[in-house]
Amino acid sequence: MKYYVLVIAAVAYLAYVHGDACVQCNSATDPKCATDPENYLAKTCAVNTSICYTRVLNGNTIRGCASELDNATAVACHNELQCLICSFAEGCNRLVFPQSRSQCLQCTGNSTSDCATNVYARPTVCPTYKLGDKCYVRNDGKNKTNSFQRGCLSSAQANKLCVDETNCFTCEGVGCNFISANSTQIPVARDGAAFISSSILVIGVALAMLRWA
Ligand SMILES: *[C@@H]1O[C@H](CO)[C@@H](O)[C@H](O)[C@H]1NC(C)=O
Ligand SMILES: *[C@@H]1O[C@H](CO)[C@@H](O)[C@H](O)[C@H]1NC(C)=O
Ligand SMILES: *[C@@H]1O[C@H](CO)[C@@H](O)[C@H](O)[C@H]1NC(C)=O
Ligand SMILES: *[C@@H]1O[C@H](CO)[C@@H](O)[C@H](O)[C@H]1NC(C)=O
Ligand SMILES: *[C@@H]1O[C@H](CO)[C@@H](O)[C@H](O)[C@H]1NC(C)=O
Repeated sequence: MKYYVLVIAAVAYLAYVHGDACVQCNSATDPKCATDPENYLAKTCAVNTSICYTRVLNGNTIRGCASELDNATAVACHNELQCLICSFAEGCNRLVFPQSRSQCLQCTGNSTSDCATNVYARPTVCPTYKLGDKCYVRNDGKNKTNSFQRGCLSSAQANKLCVDETNCFTCEGVGCNFISANSTQIPVARDGAAFISSSILVIGVALAMLRWA
C-alpha cells in the first residue's frame, strides 16, 4: 500500500515538474505582467507542452504558452530583446523581460512628500517597454499633490508630460533619477494640462483685448 502511495506521489511530482504550465498574462490589462512577473503562478496550457514564451509588442509585455504563437512568431522567438521561448521548467517565463529593460524610481507626491525627499528608494521596472527609455524627474513648482514626480519617461510621455524634455530632468541608467528634489538640474515644468489651459486663457484674453482696441 505504502508503495502505491509513493508511486502516486512520484507521478504527481513529475507531472508538476514537467507540467504543461506557463505564466499567462498581458501588461496591457495587467501591468504587473511587466513589472512583477515573479509573483505569477503558472497556468496549464491548452496544448500539452511546457514550452513558454515572453515577448514585448508595442510596449506591452505578453507571457503565455508557445503553442499559442503563430508559426512565424514562434520561429523568430529567440531574441533576447523581443521574444524568447523557454522550456527548462514549468513557468519558466517568469523573469523580467527583456532582462535589460529600464528601471527608475517611480512615485508622485508634493514637494514635501517621501517621493521628493527619499532619494534612496529602490528603482522598479518600467511598466511600458521602450528600447532606450529614460528616467525623469518632473516638478511643476506648485507644491500640490502630484506636483513632484519620478518615473519612466515613456510613462510620462504617454500622459503628455515631458514630451518636450526640457520641462523635466531626464537621465539614462538604472534608477538614475535619484537626484535631490532641490537640485537646480530639475527645471520648473511648463507642460501639462493646467499650464496649457491657463495659456489658452491668456491667449483668449489677449485676443479679446485686440478686438476692443
Ligand atoms: C500530457 O502529457 C503527460 C505526460 O507527457 C500525460 O501524462 C498527460 O496525459 C498529457 N495530457 C494531455 C491532456 O494530453
Ligand atoms: C505551423 O507549423 C506546423 C508544424 O510545423 C504545421 O503543421 C502547420 O501547418 C503550420 N501552420 C501554418 C499556418 O503554417
Ligand atoms: C504633502 O503631502 C503630505 C503627504 O505626503 C501631506 O501630509 C501634506 O499635507 C502635503 N502638503 C501639501 C502642501 O499639500
Ligand atoms: C510646501 O507646502 C508646505 C505646507 O504648506 C510648506 O511647509 C513647504 O515649505 C512648502 N514647500 C515649498 C518648496 O514651497
Ligand atoms: C537640498 O536638500 C537637502 C536635503 O533634502 C539638504 O541637505 C541640502 O542642503 C539642500 N540643498 C540646497 C541647496 O538647498
